[in-house]
Amino acid sequence: MPMLEIHGLDVAYGESQVLWDVSLQVPDSGVVCLMGRNGVGKTTLLKSIMGLLPVRAGHITFDGADLGGLRPEERAARGIGYVPQGREIFPNLSVAENLRIGLLGRPRFAGNGRGAQGDYEEVFGLFPRLKQLLSRKGGVLSGGEQQQLAVARVLLARPKLLLMDEPTEGIQPNVILQIEDAIGRIKERGIAVLLVEQYLEFAWRLANSYAIMRKGAIVSSGLTADLRHDVVRQHLTV
Ligand SMILES: Nc1ncnc2c1ncn2[C@@H]1O[C@H](COP(=O)(O)OP(=O)(O)OP(=O)(O)O)[C@@H](O)[C@H]1O
Ligand SMILES: [Mg+2]
Repeated sequence: MPMLEIHGLDVAYGESQVLWDVSLQVPDSGVVCLMGRNGVGKTTLLKSIMGLLPVRAGHITFDGADLGGLRPEERAARGIGYVPQGREIFPNLSVAENLRIGLLGRPRFAGNGRGAQGDYEEVFGLFPRLKQLLSRKGGVLSGGEQQQLAVARVLLARPKLLLMDEPTEGIQPNVILQIEDAIGRIKERGIAVLLVEQYLEFAWRLANSYAIMRKGAIVSSGLTADLRHDVVRQHLTV
């Protein structure tokens, strides 16, 4: 059974329906890449999984349980981590304080704060730069540093599934490589990832399977190994 199963999802902002009968599965390991042009509904889908938007029809099941009616923090506590588009770190809090907020999302059995040392070491292993920035305010970090902070923060909550919304957006190539490396290691650690990404080569290096959205619906999905780049690019540019 897949870790995350979305079935027949319709989502609307007021009168305007944005997602139409979306079904998608994320296995319990590996990376699924969700692609599609601007405005097709990718962020809307991630927010719906997180419980940040009301669902008009359909079901979302995580670890065998229906998420319907659960608040975002309850979904986080069950093991869904969310790195939003644009990062959304706290600009007036230091890097250390931003990271500490990640601990609040940990499953209760882990104990907030207790046993965190090893988790901090792991995220500093992924993003060594953050260790040098601990006392700096989040708002003065570069875009790439903020992205690393956002990913590190959510990892401290020990997710089973990570939702990432365009982690390469507005980021320099050298930092993109670090983020790619981090996602690769997150994947090796057995955390499933649903990655929204428009940077095709980056996505293809990481993803085992893909889904392509168009006008709020999934129009193609399968294994990345079975699909050629030029076919994907057609979907993304036409
Ligand atoms: N709060 C909102 N109220 C009304 N409409 C919205 C709202 N947020 C998004 N939309 C609309 O829903 C559609 C899907 O938006 P969404 O942000 O999910 O797209 P996206 O695929 O993530 O795009 P991008 O690649 O630019 O991030 C767009 O037409 C957008 O204008
Ligand atoms: Mg988006």
